[in-house]
Amino acid sequence: MQKPKGTYDVFGERGKKELYIRGLMETLMNKYNYEYVDTPIFEASELFHRGVGETTDIVTKETYDFVDRGERNMTLRPEGTAGVVRSFVENKMYARESMPVKVWYFGPMFRYERPQSGRYRQFKQFGVEVFGSEDALVDAEVISIPVNLYKILGLKGIKVNINSLGDKESRENYREALIKHFEPVIDTLCEDCKERFKKNPLRILDCKIDADKEIMKTAPTTIDYLNDESRTHFENVKKYLEALGIDYVVNPRVVRGLDYYTHTVFEVEADIPSFGAQNVLCGGGRYNGLVEQVGGPSTNGVGFALGFERLINALEAENIELPYEKEIDAYVIPMSDNEKAYGFDVLQTLRMSGFNADIDYMSRKIGGNFKQADRLNSKFVIIIGEEETKSNILTIKNNRTKEEYKVSKELVIDFFDDNLEKEEH
Ligand code: HAM
Repeated sequence: MQKPKGTYDVFGERGKKELYIRGLMETLMNKYNYEYVDTPIFEASELFHRGVGETTDIVTKETYDFVDRGERNMTLRPEGTAGVVRSFVENKMYARESMPVKVWYFGPMFRYERPQSGRYRQFKQFGVEVFGSEDALVDAEVISIPVNLYKILGLKGIKVNINSLGDKESRENYREALIKHFEPVIDTLCEDCKERFKKNPLRILDCKIDADKEIMKTAPTTIDYLNDESRTHFENVKKYLEALGIDYVVNPRVVRGLDYYTHTVFEVEADIPSFGAQNVLCGGGRYNGLVEQVGGPSTNGVGFALGFERLINALEAENIELPYEKEIDAYVIPMSDNEKAYGFDVLQTLRMSGFNADIDYMSRKIGGNFKQADRLNSKFVIIIGEEETKSNILTIKNNRTKEEYKVSKELVIDFFDDNLEKEEH
């Protein structure tokens, strides 16, 4: 049996890496004072049609749809925002006194795309959504989250692209300009584009088939159609990014492939030689109409999501070593079955006092056990023979210096406290 196309298994070093980065995300989100949310990985298909948009590639070509045993049309979530918005509305978070509502999430998403490096059918996103504020501070804060996460991890090759689609009125003016631009040549574009032209001309700009045509390059840009209010909002976003010392580029080609955006949109791309085609590390923006579209009261929103696998690929491309635990503190060796229970108790005491410890489960001979201690990168080895169980004086060996200590069982934690840094609990 093999895993499905476009999926991957996590084990070994990869598992350690993933847990380490997830831990950093959690710590960072606590500092930003965001609340953790977790929504189902499947939702009613209609949510994504209404939320992500009927004419997007994600909804027309990439969803994993199924009919459940109760004849309901369900979809594995292709992204996190629609589900979080549904949850925000259903749980009446809009009625909270303390606004804005700031949440973060982490989990698997599913898109039926052609798999390649950095593009999977099941992938993980870390994302945030902020509801209830129209302040450009929030747009800038949301952009600062991935930028700061990359900084904490030591990732250097990033480029922050920002753009603005403007409010409803600006978007409408832009839509008309796009129609004027593409109308004379629509027959020369692909079948999908002809369909997009009728339903949602903005989506023509996502086309991969016609991407290199001159008519795409000369298309009007959203910035030119911003009304005063939208322009001021965008200026403020830029001002606040500058206040945080975040370098950005205004890139009018960033329009995002999802329908819900208004005002600010952004993408961070990997600027690393040899990184590959899938170089968009994260993306997001403001979506002031989405909550209403999903059935809630009119509420502003802004958020982003980053691809977990692309982040790890970028760290590997820059040869960044993550400082996750590669060693254990102690390896307990009972010399025979008679000492197992005693050793097991010592092991538990160590673990419950904050040390990483393990024991021989394979009844190895002493030589094999020392090899195992080396394989586990154990800093200390605790040897428990008949003598030790009787005297309650343990033999502890530093596995590097080979120095040997005799330590009373009652003082074993003091010994490790003195010799090792304790893990925070
Ligand atoms: P998105 O641009 O579709 O936005 O996805 C965000 C990120 O997820 C991408 O930049 C990329 O890193 C990663 N990603 C997307 N598809 C794949 C794939 N097939 N394989 C691996 N990684 C992938 C959204 O999903 C929006 N919900 C973001 C958002 C949140 N906007 C507002 N709030």
